[in-house]
Amino acid sequence: RAATDYQAEDAVISQGTVATNHTGYTGTGFVDYTNVKGSYVEFSVSASAAGTSALTLRFANGTSTDRPMDLSVNGTVVASAVSFPATADWNTWATRTVDVPLTAGTNKIRATATTADGGPNLDRVSV
Ligand code: GCU
Ligand code: CA
Repeated sequence: RAATDYQAEDAVISQGTVATNHTGYTGTGFVDYTNVKGSYVEFSVSASAAGTSALTLRFANGTSTDRPMDLSVNGTVVASAVSFPATADWNTWATRTVDVPLTAGTNKIRATATTADGGPNLDRVSV
């Protein structure tokens, strides 16, 4: 089955803003996480059946410091401190794919910054 894209700018954002001040994003912008631990973006992802799915996050990190995030599904952390390392600059996007367990129906997938630097800039997830 083809992956479905979920734009970060359409998701629920806590401690972050929709931004367009760099190039290369898809959709109408990206999320600039506030530089604080606990900032998050939460996507509502529907799955037709329970099982493991590949979650691909498209991000940019124009610093030289990793911006790790916890990934949770329906309130349970399923991947801790996933690395979002430096990209060449804020206009350069990379992807990271993590297998996550989904339930049938709607899944709340949250990407939460684990350090005071906040998360990377986040363009979208694909599932
Ligand atoms: C810069 C950049 C932002 C980024 C921020 C950060 O301000 O323009 O897109 O989110 O750095 O360090 O998080
Ligand atoms: Ca930021």
